[in-house]
Formats: sequence, structure tokens, C-alpha cells
Amino acid sequence: MDLSLSGKNAVILGAARGIGHAIADAFAAEGARVGLVDRDPHIDTVADELARRHGGAVFAEAADVSIEAEMNDAARDLRNAMGPAAHVVFCAGIGSGKFGFPFTRLEPADWRRVLDVNLMGFVHTAHAFAPQLIESGEAAPTHGATLQVLVSVAGQIGSQTDPPYSAAKAAQINFLQCLAKDLAPHGVRVNGIAPGMVRTALNESVWVAGQGSLPESEREDYATWAERKIRTVSPLGRWQEPPEFGAASVFLASPHARNVTGQVLNIDGGQVMHA
Ligand SMILES: NC(=O)c1ccc[n+]([C@@H]2O[C@H](COP(=O)([O-])OP(=O)(O)OC[C@H]3O[C@@H](n4cnc5c(N)ncnc54)[C@H](O)[C@@H]3O)[C@@H](O)[C@H]2O)c1
Repeated sequence: MDLSLSGKNAVILGAARGIGHAIADAFAAEGARVGLVDRDPHIDTVADELARRHGGAVFAEAADVSIEAEMNDAARDLRNAMGPAAHVVFCAGIGSGKFGFPFTRLEPADWRRVLDVNLMGFVHTAHAFAPQLIESGEAAPTHGATLQVLVSVAGQIGSQTDPPYSAAKAAQINFLQCLAKDLAPHGVRVNGIAPGMVRTALNESVWVAGQGSLPESEREDYATWAERKIRTVSPLGRWQEPPEFGAASVFLASPHARNVTGQVLNIDGGQVMHA
């Protein structure tokens, strides 16, 4: 299927590893010009490796999404290097690192960094990149531009594992719907992609936090914990893999999804179902 992304400019935030890296890989494989943003100082090396693999242009900027000025600089620098972004995918994310059930296990102070990165990082991204997306969307109305955000099943079900993370994800979903309405007249579609269980550093950090709350006799290794959780919560009963998110993201960016906006695509083995 031709996704018509060749030569388009795509910026992926949180692209050094995990789901964001797989999404950057998918855009590069489609022939897009790709810009990577991550607080990881090795993001240059990740960009070089992607460029070698796919032969296209890959740019990198080390920046912390929670710092507004760094996001504005990243948007300006990538625009100077690549031209205006047509597709922006916000994948940066963190959990609190604590087990949050009941919520009183956390202090209010534990919420701040989680909201700063997940929610304010997405807010900074929307502000910094909207002018470029509007420019791209208005210049190519039949193709359009897209803003995407990796949300979570946790933001849809009041998950008790890590309340600040769940609340940040719910807020991302609400804000993406506001953005979808605001930006539709400019040819910009805004959607979320919600994973359930993907074997990444972030997923493993949830296991680490949970084990710390248990007596020694009830602790499980990561594989056992994850397999049990997946079987319990997901009808399909299997891990989701990072490349599945790459495939979904390039589809949402393509003209095949030209009537999809304000939606959350759950790729979670059926964990969350909406009527
Ligand atoms: N892995 C899962 O099971 C799962 C489930 C549901 C939702 N998600 C969501 O998917 C997205 C990607 O998660 P992942 O599992 O790939 O995580 P990950 O930890 O593997 O990767 C996250 C990336 O974001 C970057 N990052 C973190 N904070 C940053 C900051 N302040 N500024 C810039 N970059 C920053 C990290 O350096 C890393 O490269 C997140 O939004 C996460 O909430 C993941």
C-alpha cells in the first residue's frame, strides 16, 4: 500500500528507544525525512544508525520535552534543517517510578515530574509545532498534516497502578480532542495511539515499582509478572510489539486515514473496548 509519505517531514519526540524509535524507523522506511528529539544525549547516534539503515536524511536534537524553551528551539532547529514538519509524533513518556495503589502511597510531589513530561511535554510540542503543521496542512490539503500522541489504556480506565501517569494520559486524550477540533480547518488531523503492554524500559519500570511494594514471597520476575498480567487483562493474551506502533503511526499519517481525527487507536489486544 502506498502511504504517500516519501519526502514528507516527520518529527518523532522520545525517539531514542522503545515505541518512539520504532515509529521513527517506520517513517524512515517509508522514505520520510525524519527528525528525532529526545533528552538522551545519544540521539545523534540513533539518527546516524537510522540514516545508515534506510539511506534517507535523519536529523537529531537533544531536548527535554518538559522545558518549553528547549522545545521551541528544537522546532526552530528542525525546521531550519528539514523544512516545516508535516507529521509530529509525541512518544516521550515516564511513569512516577512508584506503585500507586492506593493513591496515598504517593505524595502530591510525586505527580509533578510525571505531569511535566507527559502532559506539559505534549502541550509544549503542540505549541512549538502547530505553526509548521498548519503550514504543511494548508499547503497540501489533500494529503494533510498530522499530530499524534502515544497515550495509554491507563488513561481510559482509571488504572490504579500509577495515578499521576493515568491522569496525565487521560489529559493527553482530552487535549488531543481539543486540538483535533482547533486544527481541522487547517488540514491537520490529531490522533492518539494507546498501547497496553509493550516490552520496553518504561513497561519494566512499572514491574520494578510494583515488586518493591510486595513481601519477598510474592515477588515475581519480569517475564512471569508480565505474562500473568497480559493473560488477565487482554483477550488476545499477548505482548504488543514496537513495530506495530510504527505501522499504525504511518497509517494515521497517510491519506488513507484522511477522515480519522480526534480518535484513540487502542493497540492493546482488546484490553479496552469502547462501543
Ligand atoms: N511500553 C508500554 O507498555 C506502554 C503502555 C502504554 C503506553 N505507553 C506509552 O508509549 C510511549 C512510549 O513509551 P515506551 O514504552 O517506548 O518508553 P521508553 O521508556 O522505552 O521510551 C521513552 C523515550 O522517551 C524519552 N523521554 C523520556 N522523558 C523525556 C523528556 N523529558 N524529554 C525528552 N525525551 C524524553 C526517553 O529518553 C525514551 O527514549 C509513552 O508515552 C508511554 O506512556 C507505553
